Amino acid sequence: LFHKHPRSAGLSSDGPMGKFDRAQLQRGFQVYKEVCSGCHSLKYVSFRNLADLGYSEAEVKAIAEQWAVQTPSVNPETGEPATRKNLASDRFPTPYPNEVAARAANNNALPPDLSLMAKARHDGSNYIYSLLTGYQDQPAELLKKFPDVKTPDGLYYNPYFANLNIAMPPPIASDDQVAYADGTKATVDQMAKDVSAFLTWTAEPKLENRHSTGLAVMIFLICFTVLAYMSYQNIWADKK
Ligand code: HEM
Repeated sequence: LFHKHPRSAGLSSDGPMGKFDRAQLQRGFQVYKEVCSGCHSLKYVSFRNLADLGYSEAEVKAIAEQWAVQTPSVNPETGEPATRKNLASDRFPTPYPNEVAARAANNNALPPDLSLMAKARHDGSNYIYSLLTGYQDQPAELLKKFPDVKTPDGLYYNPYFANLNIAMPPPIASDDQVAYADGTKATVDQMAKDVSAFLTWTAEPKLENRHSTGLAVMIFLICFTVLAYMSYQNIWADKK
């Protein structure tokens, strides 16, 4: 009743012929990096995959080096975890060393890995966009009907989240939260669309290949159907 179906983010990758907008994917990556990566991992993506978004080898290397990585070994001098710079072949490091630390930092909720989120939820790309832009006050109507369901402290009302109260504070809360490298105006709506496009790519980097293969298959099947029909007509032409 109060749970809403996602609104369309109108991404260029939508539809059977959709293609990614590389500039948008780069902006979305910037949002992930500057906003989401503080809490959410992206554990199935390696830095070198970013080459797909149009970054050069040198840019990928520079991006990888900006992330410090914790290695399981210990520095024998200090007893601290040894760190090294990321290589392009490394996966994105996780923001927390383990689930206990992640929950401790998030009011006991666990920020899920975002690599496959766009596939894990129904209508995922639009869901991510809608969730990010969907925070609102609890409708008075809802409280009147069900007085017991007041959003608990530490949770936030969001009609796109399955149980309506989400532990994630609104991550994209004001315009210009990031300063886009390409000069695009960073409105809340724009940032939400861009990060949803980026997470659509992380969940299905080969989406464009699937779309173009699908088109070729459909053209083939149409030709084949026409030919099959014509030969059927031909074979039975003199039988009544
Ligand atoms: C959950 C996206 C930033 C903490 C989620 C979910 C998504 C998401 C899609 C899953 C909702 C579901 O299960 O259906 C994002 C994006 C971000 C972002 C795209 C950046 C723009 C953050 C930040 C924090 C955070 C900065 C920490 C301050 C959480 C937590 C949950 C969550 C704790 C679990 C919520 C629950 O189970 O109630 N986020 N997030 N997120 N996020 Fe984020």
